[in-house]
Amino acid sequence: MPFPIKAVRACYPALNDGYAYLDGAAGTQTPRSVIEAISDAYRGGIGNVGGAFPASHRSDAIVAACRAAVADLVGGDPRGVILGPNMTTLTYRLSRALAGPGDEVVVSRLDHDANVRPWTQTGATVRWAEVDPVTGELPVEQYASLVNERTRVVAVTAASNIIGTRPDVAAIAELAHRAGALMYVDGVHAAAHGPVDMRALGADFYATSAYKWSGPHVGAVVADPALLETLRPDKLASSPDTVPERFETGTAAFADLEGVTAAVDHLAAMVPGTGNRRERLLASMAAAEEHEMELFGVLIEGLETLPGVTVYGKPARRTATAYFTVAGRTPREVAEHLARLRVNVWNGHNYAWELTGAMGIRDTGGAVRAGLVPYNDRSDVDRLLEGVAQLA
Ligand SMILES: Cc1ncc(COP(=O)(O)O)c(C=O)c1O
Repeated sequence: MPFPIKAVRACYPALNDGYAYLDGAAGTQTPRSVIEAISDAYRGGIGNVGGAFPASHRSDAIVAACRAAVADLVGGDPRGVILGPNMTTLTYRLSRALAGPGDEVVVSRLDHDANVRPWTQTGATVRWAEVDPVTGELPVEQYASLVNERTRVVAVTAASNIIGTRPDVAAIAELAHRAGALMYVDGVHAAAHGPVDMRALGADFYATSAYKWSGPHVGAVVADPALLETLRPDKLASSPDTVPERFETGTAAFADLEGVTAAVDHLAAMVPGTGNRRERLLASMAAAEEHEMELFGVLIEGLETLPGVTVYGKPARRTATAYFTVAGRTPREVAEHLARLRVNVWNGHNYAWELTGAMGIRDTGGAVRAGLVPYNDRSDVDRLLEGVAQLA
């Protein structure tokens, strides 16, 4: 069945403003159901959690539903879903509980800086997995010599946020686990672009952010609750010591958590399906990935055939995310030109600090990123290519 792109787009009020939203890798638009879920939560009355009155009970239920929804999205256990403001904040918090002086950590130059700096700043000895700057691949074999019995954590992305590379996380996990290390997988970019099965990936921790997949600005890290029981994060004396609550500092954005659940429900319903929510998510996200990759074929071929355009990375397994420069124009100039044509793209290093450094373009303004998400259609791609062609 073809992906029902018209019906999906109709869910997003913001898409009516005449812009081609190719900036989804930096954050997606939200469907009406998410917007309404958030305002309904406020309208219905919410309190802080753990109280004796109904508004507090409603917040308790919102938190529980959100954990269940995120667990369904990534194939995890709701009792191990840690919620917080964003992935970066949660990763800093977990890194402090997981590694320190005397340990070793392995980070990669493919990763967004949010899965690099929190680890390199723990005081642990740092080992680097190198990326091939031309293909954009992260060779697995190097991990055999990077991990040893002192390795506490291997931090790696499930997909690059600029060139889309999907490294072989499961193979890396096998090497990490053989050495007794834990896998911390950054799924912030990957989770928006296809089905996720954190267990199949061998992820001990899987991080994601709802604003990349049609939800509000909320982050989550999912782990086995039994593993979380072994960790003692910094926390207030007065806050709950239970799992996963002891990893969550301060008061949550309860209404936004209701929006996260609505976003997961939206993703599960993009294509009509049967079965439980997890099963519908797997089918719906697989259909969305197919839709994205079909359009991406047009996008990447179009860019590659334009004179003066350089496309970075040619990974074998990737998301529908392109990163390119145009000869004689800075990435910012290209983005400004496209913005005048009502085409939203991102420019710069996009926090892929190590990767843009390895590719030698970090100090020259990086490149332009145009990425597809489920709500993008052929006209978005055509408008991008026409706009870039005017400069090439
Ligand atoms: C791959 C990847 N990892 C991590 C992050 C950081 O996520 P957050 O904004 O939730 O801290 C991003 C954000 O762009 C990302 O794309």
